[in-house]
Amino acid sequence: MQHSTSDPSQGGSHFVYVAAAVAALGGLLFGYDTGVISGAILFIKDQFSLSSSMEELVVSAVLIGAVAGAAGGGTLADRLGRRWMLIISAAIFSVGAVGTALAPGPLPLLAGRIVVGVAIGVASFTAPLYISEIAPARMRGLLVGLNQLALTSGILISYLVDYAFSPIDGWRWMLGLAAIPSLTLGIAMLFMPPSPRWLVGKGENQQASSVLRRIRGTQQVEQELQEIGQGLERQASGSGALMGPIVKPALMVGVGLAIFQQITGINTVIYYSPTIFEYAGLNQSSTAILASVIVGVTNVVFTIVAIRLVDRVGRRPLLLVGLLGMVIGLFILGLAFELRGLSSFLQYIAVGSLMLYVASFAIGLGPVFWLLISEIYPLRVRGSATSLATVANWGANLVVAIAFLTLVDAIGRPGTFWLYAGVGIGAWVFVYALVPETKGHSLEEIEEHWHQGKPPRELRAKAEVR
Ligand code: BGC
Repeated sequence: MQHSTSDPSQGGSHFVYVAAAVAALGGLLFGYDTGVISGAILFIKDQFSLSSSMEELVVSAVLIGAVAGAAGGGTLADRLGRRWMLIISAAIFSVGAVGTALAPGPLPLLAGRIVVGVAIGVASFTAPLYISEIAPARMRGLLVGLNQLALTSGILISYLVDYAFSPIDGWRWMLGLAAIPSLTLGIAMLFMPPSPRWLVGKGENQQASSVLRRIRGTQQVEQELQEIGQGLERQASGSGALMGPIVKPALMVGVGLAIFQQITGINTVIYYSPTIFEYAGLNQSSTAILASVIVGVTNVVFTIVAIRLVDRVGRRPLLLVGLLGMVIGLFILGLAFELRGLSSFLQYIAVGSLMLYVASFAIGLGPVFWLLISEIYPLRVRGSATSLATVANWGANLVVAIAFLTLVDAIGRPGTFWLYAGVGIGAWVFVYALVPETKGHSLEEIEEHWHQGKPPRELRAKAEVR
């Protein structure tokens, strides 16, 4: 089952890039809709005279919706297919964008934000899943990574849109503009093919074959088709159940990474970076915007670095190096807060360590988590298993968002960042001990590994097995 570079399943037509880019609009919306509220809320709060608890609710409504969307979308992604789930999520995104933009009061706004959240929950895992299933193995990291690049760009664009519409208190525009990428996603996806692997799962081999020919740019797709079919036959033997012994180790890896991705604090920084910069003593109002933009740009730039490296150096090295950088960044950040007042130079140290932290996340846990959960599960349960990891991710995101300010009150700022650093060390050990290396393997080869009953960590990069 080893592929050489002359293997057609390793090649790709230009069309595969187009299909991946269209699906990645799901990532763009994920980023835009989570980022946009940070600026919009300032105006919404005033216009609707929101109490602080209502304000918190409006901000976290998306997370609540996302947990629900990710939970509900799993079996549907297996039943209706990844393509339809993206089309449905685009429709929900559009309704949410228009609904929130026109909301006459706080309750309809809250409802609209939950609707947007549901769409984010669905798109957050179906976009990587779709891309992973159409991508040739040797560039799967790059193509799935496009989704995270779109996500981080979406966050950055939302900050810029917030900035642009601030002078006219234009929160309705900020929220409503998401309708443009939403409609584009929905319409463009209608012209994209279904996932060939999902088609094989449905017994539609002929259609799968024609999709493969289109996205591989060759007529020779028989071998790939056969391998996908063989994988399914193995699962039909009954051992491929979601909670069964074959899937369980991969499930632990996905859910563990999902939780670590959030409890190492990334969204504390994404959602509260102006507050953190203020803590560090940089407190003119323009600094808040600048802070968000600097964080956003760093996130985008290092995501580009990651997706260029991920198919060459592999997933594990990026995770391990990224986590190390995050831990160092968090440790220094805590120290800068602990020693604050000693010198104004420490402000710059705080900003620098925050950048190191964001860059390190963008190199590792950010893109690699979503990539791995789209590749490590057997086809028969791929939708449900990916959705489970996604629910864990959004659930942990919600807990951290609610807990951050309380945590700062309870153990102080240095303590909070050191706590995240400690968790980061735990995450490093978890990755080192348990996470498989999927680089260069076809999804069927990864599946075969579980069927042999081997532990996740024994799956090594393709080059190493050769
Ligand atoms: C995470 C999000 C986070 C984003 C930041 C994603 O991989 O799942 O929670 O906001 O990265 O870039």
